[in-house]
Amino acid sequence: MEAIQETAAAAPKAEPSTRRVPPGPPTRGASVFSRIRYGLNFFFDPFGFVGGRFESYGDTYFVAAENQPGLYVFRKPEDVWAVLVTEAKKFRKTHSAFRELGQVLGESGLLTTDGDTWRKHRRIVQPAFSPKRMSEYAEVMIEETVREARSWEHGKRIDLADAMMELTLRIVARTLFGHDASGDVDAVRDAMRTLQDGLVGAQLPIPRWMNIGLQRQERAVATLDALIARMIETRRRQGGNGQVDLLQRLLDARDPETGAELTDTEIRDHLVTFFLAGHETTSNALTWTFHLLGENPAQRARLEAHLDEVLGDRDPTPEDFPNLGFATQVLEEGMRLRPPVFVMARQAAEAVTIGEWELPAGSEVVLWLWHTHHDSRIYPDPERFDPDRFAPDAKAALPKGAYLPFGQGPRTCIGKHFALMEGTLLLATIARRWRLEPTGAAPKLHARVTLSPKNGLPMIPKKR
Ligand code: HEM
Repeated sequence: MEAIQETAAAAPKAEPSTRRVPPGPPTRGASVFSRIRYGLNFFFDPFGFVGGRFESYGDTYFVAAENQPGLYVFRKPEDVWAVLVTEAKKFRKTHSAFRELGQVLGESGLLTTDGDTWRKHRRIVQPAFSPKRMSEYAEVMIEETVREARSWEHGKRIDLADAMMELTLRIVARTLFGHDASGDVDAVRDAMRTLQDGLVGAQLPIPRWMNIGLQRQERAVATLDALIARMIETRRRQGGNGQVDLLQRLLDARDPETGAELTDTEIRDHLVTFFLAGHETTSNALTWTFHLLGENPAQRARLEAHLDEVLGDRDPTPEDFPNLGFATQVLEEGMRLRPPVFVMARQAAEAVTIGEWELPAGSEVVLWLWHTHHDSRIYPDPERFDPDRFAPDAKAALPKGAYLPFGQGPRTCIGKHFALMEGTLLLATIARRWRLEPTGAAPKLHARVTLSPKNGLPMIPKKR
């Protein structure tokens, strides 16, 4: 998160130059005081803070840093597309924003690696997301959701954010690791919360013994590590038993040249990455979507009519997924307004031109997806919840780079189809049975690694 906060990161020293740069705020000192003040401003209202910058400086702004190439901040779809797709080869993910995440996810997981290491590991895990696997996963998604939906009572308030977190965690653990996570939900949820806050707090420039955020982060990582070590140990003891899930794939993988197995650390890094990336995001997407439906009863009524038409009075089956198009549109509009991953970051590995700007090697780049998704030039009346924006024709007419909740290009989300299918099936299974009523004021945004509602989301299920 550090460079996303516009704090200059350690990058190759730049020669003093007269290169033309976008407008931006005045160069800030590197003093501890200035860093803390800056960090706090960002911490409390990142969207307002960055939105103000775009208002002042335009679609691209530049944050200069002493002796370093500086930070370029983009929101225009064509610039986002250029960084992620057309010029992707000139960027790497070893951006300072990922350094803290790397401490948790390790050095082999897909999210935080680059180059040959990333390519080798992406190749190993990709088959776990093949179409055949997907339809098996769909069975589990529906089964777990029916179990969850049956446990609710008419009129009895639930915390929907907690419920979605537990449900998506159970689904990812069962589908990818063949593990029943029911007994681990509390430990993982607490670890996740700690990590979300710790990743920000842990960077404060204060000594380790004073840094409670860092200490909590280390404890959370230890909890996750212990759980994952248990999962690997159990599977090794039991043997594969014909399993073809992600865990088995990692245990069976052999280097084509040396025949070497993956090390325990490599397997651990993958599992932590999939555990975290594979449930937190989908859970937030669903939580926000139910919140938006609660605030927009007319759209909720359209969704219910759609579900009645496609499903009648039965739960969905995996085969229903392609016919639940309006439910997918609802989810897509939910992720436009509340993108679980609201910002992306890169570092230029070599000189590269983006739009009218020439970025030297070492420049840091931040793509504010939130601001692209809320741009009234692309989405008229952008705060309005309108699933018709994602009707097939309207979606096809969107400019490239205007809607990227899963990223794009070589580093696009490996779980995109998993998440769209899971989100649609969960939405359909729940909204068919329950009308979720809001209980009060809209929740505040909690923008950390992902975007969640601050203090959860109380809702009241009413039988349909
Ligand atoms: C609504 C749900 C989800 C959202 C919004 C989301 C978003 C994203 C985004 C934006 C990226 C790209 C980040 C970048 O380029 O810097 C990404 C990458 C990734 N996601 Fe997801 N994701 C979701 C669900 C999932 C699921 C269900 C899984 C796994 C089961 C998953 C696993 C990953 C992994 C492993 C990567 C790294 C891919 C690579 O670099 O090769 N995600 N995700």
